[in-house]
Amino acid sequence: MSYRFSARTSWDVGESGFAAAIREARTAGRELVDLTVSNPTVCGFAYDAEAILAPLASMEAMVYDPDPRGMRFAREAVAGYYGDHLADVDPDDVVLTTSTSEGYGYLFRLLCDAGDEVLVAQPSYPLFDFLADLEDVRLRPYPLFYDYGWWIDFAELERRIGPRTKAIVVVHPNNPTGHATGPEERGRLEEICLRRGLALIVDEVFLDYGLDAGVSLGSFAVGPHPVLTFVLSGMSKIAGLPQMKVGWIAGFGPEGDRRQAMGRLEVVADTFLSVNAPMQRALPVWLAGRHGIQGQILERVRENLRLIVVSGVEVLRVEAGWSAILRLPQRVGEEEVAEMLLREVGVVVHPGAFYGIAEAGRVVVSLLGACREMEQGMERIHRVTMRNHDSY
Ligand SMILES: Cc1ncc(COP(=O)(O)O)c(C=O)c1O
Repeated sequence: MSYRFSARTSWDVGESGFAAAIREARTAGRELVDLTVSNPTVCGFAYDAEAILAPLASMEAMVYDPDPRGMRFAREAVAGYYGDHLADVDPDDVVLTTSTSEGYGYLFRLLCDAGDEVLVAQPSYPLFDFLADLEDVRLRPYPLFYDYGWWIDFAELERRIGPRTKAIVVVHPNNPTGHATGPEERGRLEEICLRRGLALIVDEVFLDYGLDAGVSLGSFAVGPHPVLTFVLSGMSKIAGLPQMKVGWIAGFGPEGDRRQAMGRLEVVADTFLSVNAPMQRALPVWLAGRHGIQGQILERVRENLRLIVVSGVEVLRVEAGWSAILRLPQRVGEEEVAEMLLREVGVVVHPGAFYGIAEAGRVVVSLLGACREMEQGMERIHRVTMRNHDSY
């Protein structure tokens, strides 16, 4: 008799047909232009490695003195980051985590019992499915629609709220749509949360990557907070250091609810004490040094976006973040367009379906890779979509 594993891990863990096609093309020695590279540590940015690594060797890290919310000076540094965003954050309302993903896990445990529901935007970031499965939470997507920019379909969002809904997740700015949630949308979200007794979870990992020079995106950490609100972020994007594994949850909202939430989160964090001492020592240093890498990333992202625009390939409006959605002539499904690009011109893109994009012909590209690759990739995509135009 075979072993019976949990239902929550009954994923199809096999390689997708698309991943297999990429692997086979590489094995066959085909030269591919990969427009999905989104790991900042391999994109040729100049990190100040010495300054980044030095605090990890601090002798103070030899003492084990755990604080479930994270060391106070590290939480103060997080509060300082929000101060730069004009938000007043109490370090006691911050809990450090090893990543934003872990932060989601903590919040799902705090807010949901098995079978409870959380609303997430569609299209959005695909990791949510696994995070929710692992906490026995059910995701209900609420649609975004595109009309010279992305908007929340509020009527549909309200329809998706049921008796077991506990929270609404907002990714601000969103990945991969690259749109920010404006003050009017924020107000409507808060009004709905207040009326329906829901918490608001806001993922701001891309907050510092607004593309309009001189315009900074407003953080949900800025009050007032009429409802229980949790803002998530971390080093992966803010400092381009995904390998360091440090993130946080900042809690806001009416005093009583917020206190209770932070007290319970402290117990969740205390159960794992997952953030190690050297990382906490280093966090203030990395936060202070973030502007150097952010400037380089922003320059790259803007230039790659410009290269897409001048290539003649249609791109949806991007306000912020590290990715863009291309609108290609439609075939039967998006998967097929991505597969066609791989097969015919050796360009690797993410199928839109990977991010829950329903419309055919949409593919997602990362704006982080080398500009030379982007130029080459766009030239190939333009050529093949023009050539195949009649057959669509
Ligand atoms: C919207 C969003 N949130 C969170 C993450 C992951 O962040 P972390 O490395 O802190 O888990 C990503 C990674 O791509 C992301 O796109």
